[in-house]
Amino acid sequence: MDTRQALAPLAGATPLVFAHRGSSAALPEHTVAAYERAVVEGVDGFECDVRLTRDRHLVCIHDASIARTSNGRGRVTRLTLAELNRHDYTSWHREWVATRGPDAVRVSTTDDGILTLDRLLSLARGAGRSLRLLIETKHPSRFGGDVERQLVDLLTRHGLTGATRTASEPDVRVIVMSFSIRALRRVRALAPEIPTVFLFDIPTPSLWSGRPPDGADLLGPSIRMVRHCPEVVRRAHDRGVGVLVWTVNRPADIELVHSLGVDGIVTDRPADVLAALNRPVPGDRGGTGLAAPTGTGSPAPGDGRLGPCPSTTGVSTTEGSSPGWLD
Ligand code: G3P
Ligand code: CA
Repeated sequence: MDTRQALAPLAGATPLVFAHRGSSAALPEHTVAAYERAVVEGVDGFECDVRLTRDRHLVCIHDASIARTSNGRGRVTRLTLAELNRHDYTSWHREWVATRGPDAVRVSTTDDGILTLDRLLSLARGAGRSLRLLIETKHPSRFGGDVERQLVDLLTRHGLTGATRTASEPDVRVIVMSFSIRALRRVRALAPEIPTVFLFDIPTPSLWSGRPPDGADLLGPSIRMVRHCPEVVRRAHDRGVGVLVWTVNRPADIELVHSLGVDGIVTDRPADVLAALNRPVPGDRGGTGLAAPTGTGSPAPGDGRLGPCPSTTGVSTTEGSSPGWLD
């Protein structure tokens, strides 16, 4: 099977451009405003991270704790949705911007609690055009496989699994990603039609050879991996395996991944990536020109700790390792 079809161009343009946590260089990550801005900027899709609340709602948040991206404290899995909604998930970003000068960015958003995946799916379905959603399940989680079970249930309620998806236009489709291969295998068992992406930032010979572990359709190397071993893209393509790269914010990295012919680019700065790809940008690009990176990207090129880009071997991998937090 050619897994590159999962990232087939939506409008004749390739690679697909995904807004990482929304248009998150310009606006607070994982907020309605950040995703609405991404739609205006012309993205092909969204990326989001999901975790379960104590009362088993899927919410869009990267960290296990709400401390960095809200004015509250506590772990997502220990708080109910109602408790999470008592906090503001935007003002932290204004404060961050304030330290970088008055012309850094214009923020305009609503303080409307934590973003649920239910709401994000509704936003995508109501956007009025075709979109792809990259949903990353975060592990380890004390709820284990409930994360994927709840996810597939919710996607089914939205008509986004094979069993319920209707061939309507505009067409919204979901791709599930994880650093945990066990999580992807659960998705495969629950909804085999949903494409899966194995994320990695730790090299193994099997991954370098362009081969995803069983249960994954596509490869999701970090930009650090691709800088270090660009050949991984060709090796994957030779196997018919699609590649999407995260988090690509710097001009040189955009140029690199485009020249390699990757299938998807995940970025905090979708307007900049679309412009670099000569894709028309339908909305106002004002406010996206932050003076400094968001800090969510990868280390600078030249990181010698990875060792040499290896030739391919047959060593297999079965487990992903998350750079995340134990919750
Ligand atoms: O798109 C994949 C990327 O988001 C994985 O890293 O830490 O930003 O979730 P992280
Ligand atoms: Ca993510």
